[in-house]
Amino acid sequence: MEIFAIANQKGGCGKTTTATNLAAALAINGKKTLLIDLDPQAHASLGLGVDKEISIYDCLSKISNHKCALKDIIVNIAPNFDLAPSNIMLSTLDQELSGEIGRESRLFDCVKDIADGYDFCLIDCPPNLGLLTVNAIRSANSLIIPVEASRFSVDGVKRLVEIVGLVRERLNHSADFRVLVNNFDSRLRHSFRILNKIKETFGAKVFNTIVHINVKIKEAQSVAQTIFTFDKYSRGSKDYFSLSREIISKEEAIVEKISQQMKKIVQKKAKEISPVTFEFSAGSAASVFVVGDFNNWTPGDDARLDNVDGIWKKRLNLKPGSYKYRFVIDGKWQKDPANPAAEINPFGELDSLLLVKD
Ligand SMILES: Nc1ncnc2c1ncn2[C@@H]1O[C@H](COP(=O)(O)OP(=O)(O)OP(=O)(O)O)[C@@H](O)[C@H]1O
Ligand SMILES: [Mg+2]
Repeated sequence: MEIFAIANQKGGCGKTTTATNLAAALAINGKKTLLIDLDPQAHASLGLGVDKEISIYDCLSKISNHKCALKDIIVNIAPNFDLAPSNIMLSTLDQELSGEIGRESRLFDCVKDIADGYDFCLIDCPPNLGLLTVNAIRSANSLIIPVEASRFSVDGVKRLVEIVGLVRERLNHSADFRVLVNNFDSRLRHSFRILNKIKETFGAKVFNTIVHINVKIKEAQSVAQTIFTFDKYSRGSKDYFSLSREIISKEEAIVEKISQQMKKIVQKKAKEISPVTFEFSAGSAASVFVVGDFNNWTPGDDARLDNVDGIWKKRLNLKPGSYKYRFVIDGKWQKDPANPAAEINPFGELDSLLLVKD
């Protein structure tokens, strides 16, 4: 599961808008997605029409009367799209946990339990750098930092990135970050100037997708819908769908890279070993094993030969080298009668010799 914290201490830059609409877009792409509302304002929950007494607070708190696991609070919003809602109780958590050891990892501990059930988890953070945001960074693989094209502040983003660095040092957890340009007004020259400044500052960390200013996004929220159910042909829909594709294709590229690396390792390992077939002709025997210094002279299941039309056979993968071996026929040890290469062992009996070449 890939976990993104949508964070920026600056209020109103589009965290909740991005969290809800990106979650919906990932779900439309067939990716099982969980949105965790980690803001006591509960804008993501309310914006999706969810107002619950039990919330993420009850998973993170130690003194809640309704203490429960993350899976117990989950509400389904749409196919592949689940929400872990918030409510105002979450605003008391900072004080409640002050002085508690491990308080920065409480969300991480909850999220671990549901990791197998989802492809993506998005965490909508509050507009500050307090305990909740630190918990989100501690849980996340990566941050998505929405910045407004009109009100962008390099210092604000740098401060947040410093917190990511502190989490790395103090909690030994390294999260990456990407910057998302939001509220872009292509009619204004000023917007392009700011966009250039953002790209100059953060380079490849900036998403290619830009979310344009689009009134439909606001209207969708006012009737507790995502942009996709409200107006799937809107500019907002296109932008958030494009963002989801950018994220998914990056994930797929990483998965592909890992699988290519795995393939290379397997191929390299395969080159290092050679298949060797041992054969013994004894149709009347009940069991035949091949034992040697390649299997610690142990007649276990891996050493058992199969009877194929009266010929006992076993294929073993061996690394290049020289080996000694014997057959065990119905419990009696003997050399390989078909192999003239043999030498006397310390018991005065013959071991067969085998050379596996590169
Ligand atoms: N691309 C956009 N086009 C039009 N309106 C937008 C866009 N992005 C965000 N908004 C509007 O801006 C306002 C603030 O957005 P949002 O609530 O997502 O910000 P936020 O960062 O979550 O705020 P807070 O810091 O309070 O949590 C909302 O009214 C939202 O509808
Ligand atoms: Mg918000």
